[in-house]
Amino acid sequence: MLWYGGDYNPEQWPREVWAEDVELMQRAGVTVVTVGVFSWAKLEPADGDFRFEWLDDVIDGLHAAGIGVDLATATASPPPWLTAAHPEVLAVDASGHRWSIGSRAHHNPTSPIFRRHADRLVSKIAERYAHHPALLAWHVGNEFGNEVPRDYGDESADAFRTWLRSRYGTIDQLNDAWGTAFWSQQYGSFDEIHPARVTPTFPNPSQALDYERFGSDMLLAAYRAEVAILRRANSAIPITTNFMGPFKPADYWAWAEEVDFVSDDCYPDPLDPEGHVYAALRRDLMRSLAGGKPWVLMEQATSAVNWRPVNGAKRPGQMRALSHQAIARGADGIMYFQWRQAARGAEKFHSAMLPAVGTDSRIWREVVQLGEELAALSDLAGAPVEQAPVAIVFDWESWWACEQGAMPARTDYLATITEWYTGLYELGVLVDFARPDDDLSRYRVVVAAATTVLSDAAAEALDRYVQQGGHLVATYLTGLVDPTARLLPGGPLGPLAATLGIRIEEIAPRAEGDALRERLGLSTDVRGEISGRVGVWAEVLHTIGATVVARYGPGDLAGHPAVTRRGHGQGLGWYVSAELDRPGREALLRIVLERADVAPASTPPAVELVRRGGLVFAINHGTAPVRLALAGHDVLSGLDVEHLELEPHGTAVVQPSPESSGAQA
Ligand code: GLA
Repeated sequence: MLWYGGDYNPEQWPREVWAEDVELMQRAGVTVVTVGVFSWAKLEPADGDFRFEWLDDVIDGLHAAGIGVDLATATASPPPWLTAAHPEVLAVDASGHRWSIGSRAHHNPTSPIFRRHADRLVSKIAERYAHHPALLAWHVGNEFGNEVPRDYGDESADAFRTWLRSRYGTIDQLNDAWGTAFWSQQYGSFDEIHPARVTPTFPNPSQALDYERFGSDMLLAAYRAEVAILRRANSAIPITTNFMGPFKPADYWAWAEEVDFVSDDCYPDPLDPEGHVYAALRRDLMRSLAGGKPWVLMEQATSAVNWRPVNGAKRPGQMRALSHQAIARGADGIMYFQWRQAARGAEKFHSAMLPAVGTDSRIWREVVQLGEELAALSDLAGAPVEQAPVAIVFDWESWWACEQGAMPARTDYLATITEWYTGLYELGVLVDFARPDDDLSRYRVVVAAATTVLSDAAAEALDRYVQQGGHLVATYLTGLVDPTARLLPGGPLGPLAATLGIRIEEIAPRAEGDALRERLGLSTDVRGEISGRVGVWAEVLHTIGATVVARYGPGDLAGHPAVTRRGHGQGLGWYVSAELDRPGREALLRIVLERADVAPASTPPAVELVRRGGLVFAINHGTAPVRLALAGHDVLSGLDVEHLELEPHGTAVVQPSPESSGAQA
């Protein structure tokens, strides 16, 4: 079965509505709903006063209709009585200000008092429902860290000191790792250390990096506390929590090891012409976090959200196309926020499966249609996606490190990753994400863009990858520091410089904007096997065995190497020192792929073709119709086709005929 449904918040509605909900869910082909995410105040209206009868009725009603339940632990937002009695449960921001109630998720999830109450609630829920026949999965909390990514209060200060003691052992080792000899920061004991609160000027970068690690670990500790209770109650029920794509505050590589299945909330902007690329990146990240196993799209919107400055509606077919994209890229379920559009509260303008205007609506008809289509695709459940030939390194530590202050230039890690991903997406190449020290041998090409933190293990893994025949593309901002945020000895790239056959003498960012660069006599482009304009990042680079692929054009760096390549062992190591523009990046990717024997697709950039379980998903995210030479049986329409005609947002799922060689535009 593929999951199909959404967050169901019946506590917002009188009981009369519940029967209609279930009946309409059946009409829409709903198989699973997530219940109880924000129900704490209704389940425990006063300290220790538990009221489960209403939830019994909801779950029993769903079960009678054959609808499964993804049951939340209801700890996503504490009720007002808890924070009134224990204000210290409220989270504190970096300037020491305590958040107020009146919205949601304003708490510190590792506060001992919060944990005591939350764990008691989870125990009661587990005790009551762990063996309910409707229960398919546990949904722990909700989007850990979304509202309050980090807490900086006194309880967290204590927890940080404990975390540091176990990481460093002695205060001398911490002083050494943090370089506290600079700026009179030397600590006499762990008790003197504070969380990474607001400071008058740049904070200690090693401390700031450790606070990110600690913060991610603390969120994970809150998740783990609930998991332990749920496992004791019934170890057969799978457990998840909803991720938020590439979410900076939580290192999901660590989290992925602790969930039984990965699930994701994904809200591409319908008004972003590259919203489908944004979504594809997130699907591929989830599949990679899941180690290739199926994952669930836990939340998306049927149409508009309500939290952007302008909340565009999805166009006809757009929700369907994005949903099939998720299935193609490994999802075993499509879920929404939320089942019934709210009439009150902060999310009443957010679209839902059942719109406020009712069933005579495009949204409802599309919801019903997708329910039917997913039922027809149910055999796909559990099937793997085709092997991706390319991996992009995704590293939370590098993200945290490269966006700190006091760096050579301001950087946006996710934008950098997205640029490389987009280039590959437009060439029709499927991408996995990987950790820098993973075994990368199954990939023909690996892109390590802005992998700022380079551990010895990662440098060795990347070198081995190239030696054994891999094609590594490393870019500027890679290998600047070790895991303590110390400069790598010998200059940028550390040991990887030898792999790539280069030496970086100096990092020399350009002024922003071509006009200013020209006025200052700075190079603004690169020329050679590839050419293109370049952005802010630049370096003075010397080759030691590498071949120059492109050199800087006129200006201060004229003729200096900007992009290089070196054969190393059986593979090739490419280095991209300049911040290439989109055409330059595409040109480079083309020659890298060609050398690595990876064939780009010949479909238009907005058309994707992904293979899963013997089926080809063909999706046109563009605004013009396309015709594809793909013959076979269209599983969705039930027709045999000689070729495909796809309208804007048109989608086909084709069992290709044996003679069909693949799609050509
Ligand atoms: C998040 C939350 C949901 C809801 C949606 C709205 O994903 O988990 O409760 O607020 O955003 O888009």
